[in-house]
Amino acid sequence: MAILKIVTYGDPVLRKPAEPVLKVSAKIQKLAADMFDTMYANNGVGLAAPQVGVSKRIFVLDCSTDEEPLPQMVFINPRIVRRRGACVSREGCLSFPEVFTEVKRYAEVTVRYMDLKGKTRDLTVPDGSLLCRAIQHELDHLDGVLFVDHVIDRSTTENLLEQHNLPPIEPD
Ligand code: NI
Repeated sequence: MAILKIVTYGDPVLRKPAEPVLKVSAKIQKLAADMFDTMYANNGVGLAAPQVGVSKRIFVLDCSTDEEPLPQMVFINPRIVRRRGACVSREGCLSFPEVFTEVKRYAEVTVRYMDLKGKTRDLTVPDGSLLCRAIQHELDHLDGVLFVDHVIDRSTTENLLEQHNLPPIEPD
């Protein structure tokens, strides 16, 4: 168990497409455990490996609420195989301390991924749930895409980034 250092926006690793995980080794299992420790220590609901400086296609999620406990989930080599609808809600990211802004996402997705036992699974998450948004947010991290790339109001977001001494959104 270890709490890792979270890299913040501006670090090039966050813009780099991550490499597939070829084998769910003991090292990958340890990485996932450390990512959960790091996520909980920072009060996050999701964390992708590039955010701890590891350019591998793996992210972890725990979208539990007081009303609805959910299991810890690990997604390895995930891809979205079906998407539908749209929704807008406020998002933040552990790599952007204190920055929250409205982001557009698909309302429903089906994600295909490998779990920590190396088993391939399909998961459909509906209706603009936190889990649905979090999967899209974390999967983007594996492609070097960040939530500020999907913002509704770009100029407000640019101001927020400047206030928090973070770099501007890169030109498309
Ligand atoms: Ni994030």
